[in-house]
Amino acid sequence: MRQHCGTCVLEIKQLSVQFHVNQTQLTVIRNLSLSIPDNTVMGLVGESGSGKSVTALSVLGLLPPNGHIESGKIIWNGTEIQGFSDADYRTIRGRDIGLVFQNPLASLNPVFSIQDHFVEMLRLHFGHTRTQAIQEAEYWLDRVGIPDAHKRLRDYPHQFSLGMCQRIMIALTLAMKPKLLIADEPTASLDVTIQVQILELLQDLRAELGMSVLLISHDLGVIAQQCDRVAVMYLGELVEWAPAETLFSNPKHPYTQALLASIPIPDPKAPKPQRLSGELPSLYKRPAGCAFHTRCPQAMPVCKTSRPDLHSAVNHAVGCFLYPKEPANQ
Ligand SMILES: Nc1ncnc2c1ncn2[C@@H]1O[C@H](COP(=O)(O)OP(=O)(O)OP(=O)(O)O)[C@@H](O)[C@H]1O
Ligand SMILES: [Mg+2]
Repeated sequence: MRQHCGTCVLEIKQLSVQFHVNQTQLTVIRNLSLSIPDNTVMGLVGESGSGKSVTALSVLGLLPPNGHIESGKIIWNGTEIQGFSDADYRTIRGRDIGLVFQNPLASLNPVFSIQDHFVEMLRLHFGHTRTQAIQEAEYWLDRVGIPDAHKRLRDYPHQFSLGMCQRIMIALTLAMKPKLLIADEPTASLDVTIQVQILELLQDLRAELGMSVLLISHDLGVIAQQCDRVAVMYLGELVEWAPAETLFSNPKHPYTQALLASIPIPDPKAPKPQRLSGELPSLYKRPAGCAFHTRCPQAMPVCKTSRPDLHSAVNHAVGCFLYPKEPANQ
């Protein structure tokens, strides 16, 4: 997670994203820098509205029409892509960067059979013949645990359960062998057993394909289990990142500490979960100074007036005046 990352698939540098709302430009992502090393699962966490999905959409060139990248760089395998045209993005999206969203039905076309989805994608990106694409489809459907894959290829999305549709989306995404998979709440709409199965499947396949994953989730249990590194967002800013083990055992930012203290632990002896006090401030009224100071139990006078930089010790960065260290090398 350094500035010139030789082994990172994706580097986001000082990204700011704005949305045009009610005649004003609202800054939704502010000065965010984050790098995803090769072969790494990076978790992205933060309360609802903190900017996780907008970060993912910015990387993929999929911001809605009222949103734009105000400043910063997005570097994919050494190439700056933030100014790419839609046509250029299409060569990366799907093929190099796979995408799985919470709602698989939004991504599957109801009038296409499952095999048609594979034929279209694999023809477009790899020039596969129909027969080759159907063979691949069967292989991948089988890998993601769709029973009777061969028979079900000709079925349509509505003939599958939501969990099965999510598996199909994952199969379709992985058939492209992306170098990075962005999974935005990939299991949020599924029941717990299926969630576990899908996440285990992703772990197996990720090791096999040697891909990196940006895993966005509200579920800190899932993040702790699945991720090598974790980055924490608050109100559009990155406030802390660290290897997952470090972040969960030694969270530094008071926001990360509060977030972790809010998860119930299934042990009667464990301390009771503490609800995060206060509401996430509106982006229209971003607090001056550190954005978290209005809810921070350790806020100091300086926090109300100055914004902390992200400071890093080796491999662990935190943006908080409680830790006055060298500025992060990001
Ligand atoms: N099209 C839009 N126009 C205006 N504001 C938007 C738009 N899309 C998102 N936002 C705002 O951007 C902020 C970040 O939203 P985002 O969807 O990235 O949050 P999130 O962290 O993914 O939340 P969740 O956990 O609920 O998915 C929110 O305040 C949201 O209201
Ligand atoms: Mg989201």
